[in-house]
Amino acid sequence: MHYYHVLSSITIFIMLLQSIKMEKVTLFDFTTMKNVENWMEISDTVRSVGMSKAVLVLQKTEQFQRGIFFNLLNPQPNGAAFAGVRIPITWNLTDYQSIEMICRGQGSNDHYKFVLRHNGESSNEDVTYECFFNAPMSNENFSSIVCSLSDFKPYYRGRELPDAQPLNLANITMFGLQAYGGVYSNIKQKGVSALEIEIISAIKEITIVDMSTGTVVPVLGVFKLYVDIHILNNHLQRICIHLIDPTQLYLELSDLVFQYHSRGNDMIASTTSNVQTLFDFTRTDQVGNWIECSDTIKTTGMSKAVFIIQKTQLIQRAIFFTLFNPRPNKTGFAAVRCDTNFDLSDYHYIIIKCRGQGINFKYKMLLRHKGLEKSAVVFGQIFTAPENEFGTIKLPLADFKPYYRGQELLQDENPLDTTSITSIGLKVDMSPYLPENQAGVAALEIDWIKAIK
Ligand SMILES: *[C@@H]1O[C@H](CO)[C@@H](O)[C@H](O)[C@H]1NC(C)=O
Ligand SMILES: *[C@@H]1O[C@H](CO)[C@@H](O)[C@H](O)[C@H]1NC(C)=O
Ligand SMILES: *[C@@H]1O[C@H](CO)[C@@H](O)[C@H](O)[C@H]1NC(C)=O
Ligand SMILES: *[C@@H]1O[C@H](CO)[C@@H](O)[C@H](O)[C@H]1NC(C)=O
Repeated sequence: MHYYHVLSSITIFIMLLQSIKMEKVTLFDFTTMKNVENWMEISDTVRSVGMSKAVLVLQKTEQFQRGIFFNLLNPQPNGAAFAGVRIPITWNLTDYQSIEMICRGQGSNDHYKFVLRHNGESSNEDVTYECFFNAPMSNENFSSIVCSLSDFKPYYRGRELPDAQPLNLANITMFGLQAYGGVYSNIKQKGVSALEIEIISAIKEITIVDMSTGTVVPVLGVFKLYVDIHILNNHLQRICIHLIDPTQLYLELSDLVFQYHSRGNDMIASTTSNVQTLFDFTRTDQVGNWIECSDTIKTTGMSKAVFIIQKTQLIQRAIFFTLFNPRPNKTGFAAVRCDTNFDLSDYHYIIIKCRGQGINFKYKMLLRHKGLEKSAVVFGQIFTAPENEFGTIKLPLADFKPYYRGQELLQDENPLDTTSITSIGLKVDMSPYLPENQAGVAALEIDWIKAIK
């Protein structure tokens, strides 16, 4: 007769935990990595109507380094969308059982997946092996999420293909991360998110032999375990270990079925006497000259900004991703700027066609003119990005106010010299005149920036 001996089971459980020595091999260590050059975007923009965007960047501060996977899901009306990044690799994970990632999520999406490919397959026609997980949402703590390698199921264009050949663990040749819209699934997500990543590892299973039957009991150290111990007359009879897998989430994703609502007529970019195009991101990849200038230039800075081109098969634009991480005293900023040489003396407004998503909609545009040191006066103006549809924001050049280290100066004594604008910047912060802004992730999609009379 079996009976359950509470005291003995606790003792044995502790012994078991001590004996579990998990072996991990680091696959990607974003805390020390030099660059992320080999990571490439693969988003729904490979399809004709896709509108999403993903970018993986390193955030290097004086205190830490991490990877940030920014993603912006702009789904089709049926929810179809995906935004991902991937990297070619050569891994033999035959002896490993799971993939662990130390990460945290912020923003509107928490459903992600790992995507693997094998045997050098890389075309869109090849099967992918996918495992779904929920990012731990927090702006404080990093946590571990684990996907068992046996949970990677074959998918073809979002549809599970149970008959496809199994994942060849000995020859994994592509690793990817993806945020998805959730077409035909109960989960629907959209908007902007950031997944901050420290380390991705492969975990090797340590086996424990069930004493009574001689069979191997798999134990993954990072899973929660329920242990049932059966003891008869003070002799261990059987140990049952149940794994609680937090990632058991399978979604029926069907092939992306797109509907498309044609866009309204855009104002055609041109240089006429009434309009000067400063940046037309819909036509040219003019983001190379934009550089990040976030608070991480200072010791205590923790924010991140990325300015990147999104190319879909229909349109092109720039996206300004920000992960704003202010200090407790509300200082800090996520910003980019571009060195320019514009004579705007004939114009009265800067106009920007854009749309905002995420936690912050208030941005500051910053101008500098010739002869100013980088640390000197800067001319700023707040604007609120339209939320749902793209809109055109008109910023009067006369309303750019001079600031020095956050303090407003007298405009009469510090006039903006519009004949020679040498720098244009975009910034998210929480300064007194931007009280609504909060910590978190946001995206500003920009079609163009122009000057008009
Ligand atoms: C992969 O690793 C396993 C276990 O270490 C080894 O037996 C096998 O030969 C390796 N395969 C390749 C293709 O390297
Ligand atoms: C992995 O697959 C590719 C493509 O089939 C092949 O060229 C390569 O030799 C394979 N590598 C291993 C270790 O089997
Ligand atoms: C972060 O972890 C600490 C300590 O475990 C906990 O007190 C706090 O509630 C956690 N914060 C969040 C946002 O989960
Ligand atoms: C805000 O806090 C940071 C450190 O967390 C400090 O370096 C900075 O001087 C503070 N700024 C103000 C205006 O209090």
